[in-house]
Amino acid sequence: MSVAERGVVGRTPSYIANPVRKLSGRLRVPGDKSISHRALMLAGIAEGRTRITGFLDSEDCLATLGALRSMAVRTERPDATTVVVEGAGMRGLRAPTADLNMGNAGTAMRLYLGLLSGQAFTSHLVGDASLSRRPMERVAAPLRCMGARIDTTEGHAPLVVHGGQELHGIRYELPVASAQVKSAVLLAGLYAEGSTEVVEPAPTRDHTERMLRGFGVEVVQQGRLARVAGPARLRASDVGVPADFSSAAFFLVGGCLAAEGELRLEHVGMNPTRTGLLQILLSMGADIAVENERESGGEPIADLVVRPSTLRGIDVPRALVPLAIDEFPVLFVAAACARGETLVSGAEELRVKESDRIAVMAKGLKQLGADVEALPDGMRIRGGQLTGGAIDSGGDHRIAMSFAIASLRARGPIEIADTANVATSFPGFVGLARQAGLNIETRG
Ligand code: S3P
Repeated sequence: MSVAERGVVGRTPSYIANPVRKLSGRLRVPGDKSISHRALMLAGIAEGRTRITGFLDSEDCLATLGALRSMAVRTERPDATTVVVEGAGMRGLRAPTADLNMGNAGTAMRLYLGLLSGQAFTSHLVGDASLSRRPMERVAAPLRCMGARIDTTEGHAPLVVHGGQELHGIRYELPVASAQVKSAVLLAGLYAEGSTEVVEPAPTRDHTERMLRGFGVEVVQQGRLARVAGPARLRASDVGVPADFSSAAFFLVGGCLAAEGELRLEHVGMNPTRTGLLQILLSMGADIAVENERESGGEPIADLVVRPSTLRGIDVPRALVPLAIDEFPVLFVAAACARGETLVSGAEELRVKESDRIAVMAKGLKQLGADVEALPDGMRIRGGQLTGGAIDSGGDHRIAMSFAIASLRARGPIEIADTANVATSFPGFVGLARQAGLNIETRG
């Protein structure tokens, strides 16, 4: 049954990705989503004016910006990718007069939960249907141990953060490897008496720790432990946001799957807690060069040059899972086009992302003729030839873009329904993809 027969086309925007063979050129993908959220939040509670450049002008980050404005923080947008924030100071946020709407943005909701736990006022956080299905108790529980008063709706949003609580530092051993939970606890730690320590079961992205240092806060990082001391004060500090590795990931895989061409991805954030996909692709036999390695604002950056290659299936090391957590949809596409079998395990977190990324990807890949088996914590994929077909993104931005990349190896057009959410992380995806050589038509 095609997407049109199910009545999906016309109801939600969709892509038709027609088969192509070549990807080439130079691209700079938009700014890093994780870093853009954090830059806004830290700038909002800092003393002084912060200029954020390379900001990701996407729906998710605009939710964070909107919430900051609702709490009386003054901001200016001289252009789409620049935000100037007049920091309100640690105690300068004001009670919002309406619910803070986080839309689809898990990072916004979870990090704000930490930040708002330390405020004198009460706030209400809401999100869209997908965000309202995602687990929030994992964040609320440690914050409550610090003295916060948080109501969830059976473990989910809507959430109420009651103001005026005295927070105290804790040592918290994270049960899941989650940078969002870690960051929420560290942000609450800025408002707490004493030291707040978080110990993670495996390394996760450390943008919060790095950026806090840039804002003048002492952060101790020892192995899997991060510690801040409260009450803290933040000094405004300009942030240059690198291009998002997670957005570059689509083109990295695309460049491997292409039959010809060379693609250069410029100014990509290369924080080692984010580049697990690069390691995985290299062990699958990818031809990717890392050039011009440099640093900006405490974050490593490089240009990546990718050329076509024959990928081989591998067992993905579990230790790399948190370091590639957002890249599995596009890695599954790579694996479906590789020689031999790929096994991903230890990745049960994929089931609680913007969609159940194991179920939605397995279904979509099967619809394109791939030999895949969904596992409770991952996927087994036997590589082969993809057909065209109609798939549904499940309202998940990364899944929509991943199936567009599959058109480099598909025998016929791939119709991808429900692509509106691409705007949450990658505005201008279709334009850049076309520039590189993909043939994507948009409908609806
Ligand atoms: C993020 C952390 C990850 C990631 C998300 C962004 C962040 O989530 O999937 O897209 O900015 O901290 P978890 O920390 O829940 O794994």
